[in-house]
Amino acid sequence: MSHAILKSLGIGNEHSGGYLGQGEWSKTTDAGALQPVNPATGEVIATVHASSAADYEVIVRRAQEAFKIWRTTPAPLRGEAVRLCGEALRKHKDALGSLVSLEMGKIKPEGDGEVQEMIDIADFAVGQSRMLYGYTMHSERPGHRMYEQYHPLGIVGIISAFNFPVAVWAWNAMLAAVCGDICIWKPSPKTPLTAIATMKICNDALKDGGYPDLFFLFNDAGSDLAQAFVDDKRVGLISFTGSTKVGRMVGERVAQRMGRSLLELGGNNAIILDESADLKLAIPGIVFGSVGTAGQRCTSTRRLFVHESIYDNVLETLVKAYGQVEGKIGDPNEATTLMGPLNSQEAVQGYLGAIEKAKAAGGTVATGGKALADRKGNFVLPTIITGLKNSDEVIQTETFAPILYVMKFKTLDEAIELQNGVPQGLSSALFTESMKSAEKYLSAAGSDCGISNVNIGTSGAEIGGAFGGEKETGGGRESGSDAWKVYMRRQTNTINYSDSLPLAQGIKFDL
Ligand code: UN1
Repeated sequence: MSHAILKSLGIGNEHSGGYLGQGEWSKTTDAGALQPVNPATGEVIATVHASSAADYEVIVRRAQEAFKIWRTTPAPLRGEAVRLCGEALRKHKDALGSLVSLEMGKIKPEGDGEVQEMIDIADFAVGQSRMLYGYTMHSERPGHRMYEQYHPLGIVGIISAFNFPVAVWAWNAMLAAVCGDICIWKPSPKTPLTAIATMKICNDALKDGGYPDLFFLFNDAGSDLAQAFVDDKRVGLISFTGSTKVGRMVGERVAQRMGRSLLELGGNNAIILDESADLKLAIPGIVFGSVGTAGQRCTSTRRLFVHESIYDNVLETLVKAYGQVEGKIGDPNEATTLMGPLNSQEAVQGYLGAIEKAKAAGGTVATGGKALADRKGNFVLPTIITGLKNSDEVIQTETFAPILYVMKFKTLDEAIELQNGVPQGLSSALFTESMKSAEKYLSAAGSDCGISNVNIGTSGAEIGGAFGGEKETGGGRESGSDAWKVYMRRQTNTINYSDSLPLAQGIKFDL
């Protein structure tokens, strides 16, 4: 099956990992290779040749050339190019969704959903291409006009993670393209095939439409090229999605060269259920949030705070629901599967390590707690752990796996403090029927996260909103709202149409 999916997307058993522009893929075969593994079987899917330093130079030089054309192409025309990419992605949604599922391990509806997010952001970007608005302001001087405008930034570097191997690229690339930028992509070494397929789909569409190269790609066998990329002054913005540990390094290095960075790092997302919570909404929200994508979303629900009056009932209901999921763990491309494997063996080790730590800290495994070692692939049981304190180290740390820590609280104020009492600040949710509680939760004294919801869970954000979080999540925002501004440089302009030169602040400077 894997070969059929690859073939339908024009990828053989071996592929170049570098797109050099002008329809040319790198011919390098001596810079190492990536061998993405099917997480459901442990088998290598195909071989991808890593790019060389010379390939990288060609890419940056061509990107610089392309930028000279693209920055003066009218923005609505840039939107038309992105529209063609969106159309092409629509056509290939099924195949690309299957490849995401095969290479990353998320279930097929989530693989398709990820491609849908790419299509949605393309549509959004097309509209945005006519709305790259700046303010006009009134000058304090007579006969003067002031306004601001947004100009393209230059080359945008996108470093994406395995868990959303294609959508994260699209959130950045589609907006950057309408903003007049050229993108260079370094995907996760775990998911190079989805990146190659995406490049082919979009670049073929651009070529057919008569557009120049907007999107480049390189794959790195180690981290040398990625580090050169981060340090490269020719790259105006580095948009990085990944762990807080690596993101901190990226942020520091980009800041060192006075570049711009957009960081989407770890989350430690919580749901709060108060005494009035509607469990018909809350239970599916919690289960999808914690078990969906096998707990490998930045927005996955990791902590659950339940009002003490409903705690026992909620825990029992959740354990039953997890039991149903357990029966539907398997091949992510199978229609009945609810939970696929973890992406890698390291992730399984991370999962087991966290459970050991939780037990050592006095936690109780209410359900799950085991890897399915008798099967091929990286399968684990979705897990609920009780009896720990929010301040316990294992809870303070993000483990990219389906582990949910359930804790009790008495008052909403206490629950908000617990929720906010972690280093990360991505997504959060409250289930309540009380308007006062909802408003308090969303107020300045409420949730400290970049995303905060009422009566829906922490994961599954729509592209229309700005996506990102505070504190160690990195502070970046991408996708909807006015996130486009990070891909442009702002310029304030003053024009004097009078016959004198009055100075600002009333200063007299008589010559
Ligand atoms: C991520 O996990 O990196 O809100 C992004 C969500 C998705 C995006 C997750 N739309 O769960």
